[in-house]
Amino acid sequence: MKHLLKLSDLTAEEITSILNLADQLKYEKAHGIDKQYLRGKTLGMIFQKASTRTRVSFEAGMYQLGGSALFLSANDLQIGRGEPVMDTARVLSRYLDGIMIRTFAQAEVEALAEYGSIPIINGLTDYAHPCQVLADLLTIRERKKALSGLKLCFVGDGNNMANSLIVGGIKMGMKVAVACPKGYEPDGEIMRWASENGNFLCTESVAQAAEDADVVYTDVWASMGQEDEAAARRAIFAGYQVNDACMAVAHPDAMVLHCLPAHREEEITAKVFEAHAEEIFDEAENRLHAQKAVLVQLLG
Ligand code: CP
Ligand code: NVA
Repeated sequence: MKHLLKLSDLTAEEITSILNLADQLKYEKAHGIDKQYLRGKTLGMIFQKASTRTRVSFEAGMYQLGGSALFLSANDLQIGRGEPVMDTARVLSRYLDGIMIRTFAQAEVEALAEYGSIPIINGLTDYAHPCQVLADLLTIRERKKALSGLKLCFVGDGNNMANSLIVGGIKMGMKVAVACPKGYEPDGEIMRWASENGNFLCTESVAQAAEDADVVYTDVWASMGQEDEAAARRAIFAGYQVNDACMAVAHPDAMVLHCLPAHREEEITAKVFEAHAEEIFDEAENRLHAQKAVLVQLLG
């Protein structure tokens, strides 16, 4: 693995090896074992969009590994004034050991990897959120002791989260079912790949997607960059909520996950959220451990 641009670039073995290393790093942190795997290394973190979890977990993760992290707001870089990504990539490659970038277009992340000479990590694009899904898989495996054969149901917008969950879930042998309104399906190519390579369903029916699910997942109805559509989306997605009715058809021991931030009473009720808060905040914590594993593999 040279970069982490999207999960479709990784094999199931590579995903498993990241999860195993994440378990090890989580254990080492809990037991005060400090191995400084990235002493002297610097990660640049370019943000075109807001972030709480991604920013803080990458920054804290780099410090914990003995390295350092630079927060680079795209507005304050020349990239925000039109300096081409291909130049930025070549310059930053001379200073840094790796770059994490959160932006809109997946093509921008791919261009950084093409022109730069250091590992590039996708910290979320409109297309994918691979770091989140590695943490999600880690959390599911921790609680359910396996991934293969479990049913993962995603309720809501066929967005970056849905795309990455489909790829990650199918690669790890999970059954993946997505419930979304017509016109808001996940990426067509990803759905085709999922249908050809595993057990995948996309339906307008929440009840059908959630039936007997081991993991129920949701995300905001309006993603970053879609703020203008928020009111219209509230009407379109009104039936796509993780609530008691949805949980009633899922497996009785179903976990609920949410990448956060959550909008209570929109994509998830406060009641279901609080009943599963322990899982959801374990998931948020696991961003740290999963990303440290990615950093050690790419920059170590
Ligand atoms: N889940 C996630 O990526 O959170 P942030 O937007 O806060 O980074
Ligand atoms: N789909 C959301 C995920 C946030 C972590 C967004 O892109 O805003």
